Amino acid sequence: MCGIVGYVGTENAAPILLRALRRLEYRGYDSAGAATLYGGVVFIKKDTGRVEEINARLKLESMPGAIGIAHTRWATHGAPTTINAHPHTDCTGSIAIVHNGVIENYLALKKELLDLDHALASRTDSEVIAHLIEEYLKKGVELKEAFRKTLLRLEGSYAVALVSSQSPDTILAARREAPLIIGVGKGFNMIASDITALLDMTGEMVFLHDGDMAILTPDSYRVYRIDTGEAVERPVKTVDLTIEMAEKHGYPHFMLKEIFEQPETLRNSLRLQIEYVDLLAELLDKGRVIYLVGAGTSYNACIAGSYLFSQIARLSTFPVIASEFIPNYGASIGVDTVILAVSQSGETADVLSALEYARMRACTILGITNTVGSTLTRVARAYVLQNSGPEIGVAATKTFTSQVLVLAKIALRLARLRGKIAQYEIDEFNSWMEKVPSIVHDVLERVEEPIKKLAERIAESRVVFMLGRGVSYSTALEGRLKLMELSYIPCITYPAGESKHGPISVIENGVPVVFIAPPDEYRKLNIGSIMEMKARGAYTIVLGDSSDQDLKQLADHYIEMPKIHPLLSPIPYTIPLQLLAYYTAVVKGYDPDKPRNLAKSITVP
Ligand code: F6R
Repeated sequence: MCGIVGYVGTENAAPILLRALRRLEYRGYDSAGAATLYGGVVFIKKDTGRVEEINARLKLESMPGAIGIAHTRWATHGAPTTINAHPHTDCTGSIAIVHNGVIENYLALKKELLDLDHALASRTDSEVIAHLIEEYLKKGVELKEAFRKTLLRLEGSYAVALVSSQSPDTILAARREAPLIIGVGKGFNMIASDITALLDMTGEMVFLHDGDMAILTPDSYRVYRIDTGEAVERPVKTVDLTIEMAEKHGYPHFMLKEIFEQPETLRNSLRLQIEYVDLLAELLDKGRVIYLVGAGTSYNACIAGSYLFSQIARLSTFPVIASEFIPNYGASIGVDTVILAVSQSGETADVLSALEYARMRACTILGITNTVGSTLTRVARAYVLQNSGPEIGVAATKTFTSQVLVLAKIALRLARLRGKIAQYEIDEFNSWMEKVPSIVHDVLERVEEPIKKLAERIAESRVVFMLGRGVSYSTALEGRLKLMELSYIPCITYPAGESKHGPISVIENGVPVVFIAPPDEYRKLNIGSIMEMKARGAYTIVLGDSSDQDLKQLADHYIEMPKIHPLLSPIPYTIPLQLLAYYTAVVKGYDPDKPRNLAKSITVP
């Protein structure tokens, strides 16, 4: 996730762009930059770090010109370096672009451009856009059409804005599966990734549709369809929000905003560079022993991963809590050990110590992280980025579901490589993965209200049980971690089959027991466990398929879920549990964004 903004008008563009960049920083903050146009020349300043630091070093606000574009970056392709920061230019330096999204076919486009003798400076996917436009311009195509033809060549997602010395009072912009909004002013127009970047300049906004491109001048804006080039009308809407409300997209907390962002973040996580996924799959396949190492939520994702690797790729792996890795396995690892570390921040001390220990013993280290340039990306032989964008709420939400989806994708590539399951099973699993973002969208629409009511009941509880079998054990663990860390209610989780081996003695009248029961091969056993709990007075809350009448009748409280492949169920089934933790904290008067005693990244052992 990155943030982009553009201004064309009569005032100095740079101070306006700088203000907007500060507001967009929540979308990414590893580097930033701006391009302005003045006297037929494109001026560019960009660097790594936070917007404020860059401005102090480079004086972004003193850039000349009444037109410009700017970008704040959350790296997805290429480390956070000055060269990789946006804007990017063509070979002539007369076109500058900023881009948010992922260009999936950039390697092929880059090769084509290199063969045509283009000099590409960065390691980003975005830079190809400027060079493709240059190529069309060379052939005599005019700028708007060169832009449109370029967009038609891009696979993936983009919100992109461009200035060119050929057209000194025009910004061109376009979007596909990434947000982009026009701000309409008197004597100026703007474009930005979200309304927060526009609100102090104007409340009049045009919300572009997927597949729209726009041409902005100081006193006009026109919208066209990218596929046909035809002009279309998009209404101007008046947005009546304070900047504070808008920063959270109208949600009262970042956590809730991030929960509701998941259809988009999951879509982004599906767009992984397949070359890197394949590399990870190949290296995993070479290991004699494979450990999946993480802490907290990322460890819960590792548990889901081990079920996925086993059942989809027929590969045994061991999920390990990072702080236990050295004491438990340190003595037995060696050159034939592979460690796949999962860490949102890529900086968790317990994970890094385990990796350093393993590195000294010649193990192969692989990673899944949300943070380019993090220590994990430097120590890993190969890594995949989960593309969730920055997470501001301390409790991990969108990053968990993305991690599970990335692990599922790796498992599927491993299955292909190892030839262990039938082609039709591979195809079926793949099509379920593609459907995950829309299933999650559906869950968010249907469960919020019932969960709000349930939260009132849970807020009164002194202890809560959360149980699951198979891969749902990981869902239960994640639901429990969220509820505990946000509502401070002690919560007990174990694989449901363990009840009778001890924990059931805690059950007394009214104790809430949440069962994660997607329609899988454990359905009958789950029914048995639910009856066992009910017989001891538990208040049973069951998450199960909307068509399962037996479960519905049995449960004291039933949460209806849409159909999903059971092995992918941790993704949608975690959503109601995230909401439950959030609303329980709210009912109890706690701040879900800042749970007590916790920090976003634990960089001490
Ligand atoms: C829980 C949470 C933490 C992190 C853990 C690992 O909501 O956010 O448990 O999951 O500290 O962090 P990363 O994934 O950055 O290694």
